[in-house]
Amino acid sequence: MNMGTPSIEVTDLKKYFGSVKAVDGISFQVEAGTIFGMLGPNGAGKSTTVETMVGLNKRDGGKISILGLDPEKNPEELKSKIGVQLQSPSLFPRLTVKEIVNLFASFYSDPLSADEVIARVGLEAKVNEQIKNLSGGQRHRLAIALAMVGNGKVIFLDEPTTGLDPQARRQLWDVILQLKEEGVTVFLTTHYMDEAEKLCDHLVIIDHGKIIAQGSPRELINQYFKERAVEFVDPGFSKEERDELKRLDIANRISYEQEEKHIILYTDEISRTITRLMEYAAGIDKPIDDIIVRHATLEDVFLKLTGRGIRE
Ligand SMILES: Nc1ncnc2c1ncn2[C@@H]1O[C@H](COP(=O)(O)OP(=O)(O)OP(=O)(O)O)[C@@H](O)[C@H]1O
Ligand SMILES: [Mg+2]
Repeated sequence: MNMGTPSIEVTDLKKYFGSVKAVDGISFQVEAGTIFGMLGPNGAGKSTTVETMVGLNKRDGGKISILGLDPEKNPEELKSKIGVQLQSPSLFPRLTVKEIVNLFASFYSDPLSADEVIARVGLEAKVNEQIKNLSGGQRHRLAIALAMVGNGKVIFLDEPTTGLDPQARRQLWDVILQLKEEGVTVFLTTHYMDEAEKLCDHLVIIDHGKIIAQGSPRELINQYFKERAVEFVDPGFSKEERDELKRLDIANRISYEQEEKHIILYTDEISRTITRLMEYAAGIDKPIDDIIVRHATLEDVFLKLTGRGIRE
């Protein structure tokens, strides 16, 4: 493994669709043999970045180097060395799983065996099934098998686990971690915080085509969040009572999640915050019985940086 050497270097990349600045001047490097994550909400520019990096879009500015190759200058050589899973792939509906994996394998000089990659994504039972008969989640896993079969040194995965059930997600996390074990460099996009935290060595958070934060998941949390989150179900506070809670000044910030009826107090003085909160709630006869204290997650980081939750 070639630790320390960048497999991917992107400098001031721009991609516009008319007046929409889908990617608006982003720069980053991906070290060989690491998992690099791009995290952001819907429409942030993740897929556009991937598609431009692998040569499916012409860029409007900046530089891209993947394994020393420019996707616009050396498209064929680049394609022979990478694997790509797109967010909405168009696959041939009448081919079977095995047929399409073999077809993709035939594009490469040193592919993995079709049976092996089919087993790794857990589609053994469907090898002879036509693609049109697969469920959404199964198609998704097939797309990842197709990204893997070329035995590429760099693999791009655009939201590899969106729409999968929890068990299938965890299974794919293991597949992705296994790729890293084998020295493959993985570039993935996601809007799942837990996924980014679990998988990625380095992470950029993107919003409106710009990088708004970067680091390891832990670094991002330490940089933006030394605090703990005290979270509880709203016991039915009125607007006035919530405002009063803010005025008590018992936390650094208070976030109210209207939809889930959760209140989160961010604090670095947990016991003072909890004691005062409990006193206040009991005093207005709205006791709190469900309360948790947790470390900040990347979800909190996103909320703090953008003022919005990760999901719209
Ligand atoms: N082919 C296109 N033509 C015009 N606008 C586009 C095109 N592709 C993407 N966009 C716009 O560019 C912006 C970024 O889209 P992109 O698909 O890259 O976001 P994303 O981060 O992948 O979102 P999601 O999480 O929903 O997949 C959006 O405003 C989108 O509408
Ligand atoms: Mg996308």
